[in-house]
This record gives sequence, structure tokens and C-alpha cells, in this order.
Amino acid sequence: MIHHIPNVLSKEQVNYFRTEMQKVEWINGQKTTGSLSKNVKNNQQLDIDHPLTQHLGDIILHELSQHALFTSAALPLNILPPYFNRYENGETFGFHVDNAIRWMPDSNQKIRTDLSCTIFLSEPEEYEGGELVVEDTYGYHEVKLPAGDLILYPSTSVHEVTPVTSGCRIASFFWLQSMIREDAERHMLFNLDQSIQNLRMQLGDAHSEVVKLTSLYHNLIRKWAEI
Ligand code: NI
Repeated sequence: MIHHIPNVLSKEQVNYFRTEMQKVEWINGQKTTGSLSKNVKNNQQLDIDHPLTQHLGDIILHELSQHALFTSAALPLNILPPYFNRYENGETFGFHVDNAIRWMPDSNQKIRTDLSCTIFLSEPEEYEGGELVVEDTYGYHEVKLPAGDLILYPSTSVHEVTPVTSGCRIASFFWLQSMIREDAERHMLFNLDQSIQNLRMQLGDAHSEVVKLTSLYHNLIRKWAEI
């Protein structure tokens, strides 16, 4: 299931990110990739150890922690620190799969990458090309979102960023381990939660059916969650 999560960052926050990013050096994106992906990856990244990377990443993680739709869709257990990349002058990242296991920085904690996230930091009209193309069981999905919006997709998907033929595409990308490993189970929980939220608005929180469905939601999380 692919989710579009709008307004993770405000336009003011995007402007702040873009301004600060202009002050630092970008490096070759091959530093963070697996051996197989190296052949198809051609872009630039902020140094993952740079204080600005950590500062902007912390802002994203704070906003995500308060974003109800993101939480409902991802049910995150651990989110890896966000990275930042830039594509211009024909740069691209051809079809690849993301590594299944990554390490939390400065720790021995392993993270299984269940979901991949991209937050767009350039407006669609600022560049040509640069679509994120995600392949799933329904075919190919081309994604290009307004600045500040996030796309969430299963890390099992083969995906690419098409060549940026003019302008510049800046984004943040990161991975997370979900409490719910299986995409199908996570999707059912998302649909159930959205229905509960709609019924709460129509019937009120104290309605007995709302309480029963909320109980069902939490009992399914008890059954499926790995924490
Ligand atoms: Ni990738």
C-alpha cells in the first residue's frame, strides 16, 4: 500500500530547510548505498554526520510524531534518521531495492526496513523529470508531490528516481520498522482506524459501537504487533 501523507512540513519549514542546505557542501550519494545499488545511483547527499543533517532530521521526526495520518498508516516502531538528497543535471537513481536491514547510528540496534519514506522539498514545477517510480503488485506508480508532502511505500518495492533533466530536486528519505511487519495487516488496521475516526465524528466517542470497534483495533494490534 502506498500512502500520500500531506503537510508533514509546512512551507515555512521547507523554506528554512532549503535556506540552511544552501550553506553546506553536498557530497557524492554513493556513500550510503549497498554494492548493488552503486551502479545505478548518481546523486548528491548531505553528509550524514553533519550537524545540519541531524538538526533537520530531528525536525522531521518531531513533526512525524505528531502526525495522526502518518502514525495510522505506518504504525512505526523505530524510524531511522532522515537523510537528504539532491538531483540535477540529469542525475538519477535507477531501479533498485533498499537494503532489508540497517543499523541505528552509534548503536548495535538493527532496524528492519518495512517502509520507505520520501519527503519532497522542491515544488513539482521547479524541475523536470525526477519522478519517484514505485513498482507494486498493481503496476508502476509515478510520484511527484508538493514540497512538504511525504510518500510512504513498502520497502519490498522495486523503485527508481527518473533523471532530473532540468532544475533541481531536493528531498529527504528514510526508512522505518513498523510494529506491524505485514503490509496487508497494516493496511487493514489503517482502514479500520480511518473508519473509527469517521464514526467518532458522526456518533461521538462514547457510542457503544465506537467503543467496540476501538477495542477490536487495539486487540488486533496486540495480536500482530512486534515490539
Ligand atoms: Ni531506494
